[in-house]
Amino acid sequence: MIARETYLPFAMPSIGQEEIDEVVDSLRSGWITTGPKVNRFESDFAAYIGAKHALAVNSCTAGLHIALTALGVAPGDEVIVPTFTFCSSVNVVVHLGAEPVLVDVGEDFNVRPQAIEAAITPRTKAIMPVHYSGQACDMQAIYDIAVRYGLPVVEDAAHAVGSLYHHHKIGSASLVQHLAPEAGVTVVTVFSFYATKNMTTGEGGMITTEDDTLADQMRLLTLHGMSRDAWKRYTHVGSWHYDVVVPGYKGNMTDIQAALGIHQLRRLDGFIETRQRYAQIYDDTFAHLPEVDTPVAHTDRNHIYHLYVIRLRLERLRIDRGQFIDALKARNIGTSVHFIPVHLHPFYQKRLLYPLDGLSEAERLYDQIISLPLYPRMTEADVQDVLTAVTDVVRVSRR
Ligand SMILES: Cc1ncc(COP(=O)(O)O)c(C=O)c1O
Repeated sequence: MIARETYLPFAMPSIGQEEIDEVVDSLRSGWITTGPKVNRFESDFAAYIGAKHALAVNSCTAGLHIALTALGVAPGDEVIVPTFTFCSSVNVVVHLGAEPVLVDVGEDFNVRPQAIEAAITPRTKAIMPVHYSGQACDMQAIYDIAVRYGLPVVEDAAHAVGSLYHHHKIGSASLVQHLAPEAGVTVVTVFSFYATKNMTTGEGGMITTEDDTLADQMRLLTLHGMSRDAWKRYTHVGSWHYDVVVPGYKGNMTDIQAALGIHQLRRLDGFIETRQRYAQIYDDTFAHLPEVDTPVAHTDRNHIYHLYVIRLRLERLRIDRGQFIDALKARNIGTSVHFIPVHLHPFYQKRLLYPLDGLSEAERLYDQIISLPLYPRMTEADVQDVLTAVTDVVRVSRR
């Protein structure tokens, strides 16, 4: 067996000296929660994406919860979400007492627009596409459906900060303008800066939208429903008085997180380039391994490879996906699986009220997938180690 000497973790952040200095600056300044650095990060992010409003939150999950709340999602409503996602995209629908309607994905792991349309009922309140692994969903088809049925779109862009569709950034004003120039469609996009993401603030997220009313509402919901700029109440320009106008959440980002984010954002395009270069190396090598299928990359989108997900051709192997992961671990390569389809989790098996028989593609993909390590902190030698390990496992376990 060929094994590398040290364990290669599945994911690791790239934190530079600028991030460290900025965090230390916040710690020394005496202002460690929401403040000037969050403001700066929000405006830098809005400029990077090309969005009118950017609202920093303490996680993508909080952002999705806040977005759905601002849209008025409530008991009796339905929200359409792909089953091939992280549980939190769906949990937030349940938190609001609404019904998540789970739909299937296609070969590219992204939600099938036809499945969305087939799931629409008079109770549908919103559509939540998930840009899986950093490749945009078929947004033309999804916005067309949204316009036709008058439904808002809440995009789970946890994996997609910097991702492009038709050369427009996910979450940008120009994407909506490009795809739905006349009709207008309400779009809220939520990004994640969790530790493994293409850029990180440890924990954190950002909401973008073009809608002024929704932006105001979401900002209130982010900090207890307290009137605007309540965060300033401990500064010399602030006032002790505030009004609570809705029962909001505690979803605000801290300046310590924003200190990281400001510098991670500046490095994001470089991070993406490295991910894409490594993904190309993986693609080129796996092209010679008939036991491994590489991820589908559409030519009208810029895949930013938050994840590099291979599919095993199980009919060509004597081991299953779990055993393949164990064999990689024995060779000191960390991996992961994204995702266990939501409808297969015990809570959702009991909770969902409709037949779960239309989700077969997600189930089929789930049995085949492995997410390989792919991050800028890896060296090319690490990438080669992953390739060597996968090739070796295939060699000893092919039929
Ligand atoms: C698709 C998807 N949505 C939402 C989330 C939640 O992000 P966060 O951890 O920032 O709440 C994740 C996190 O991994 C995710 O993968």
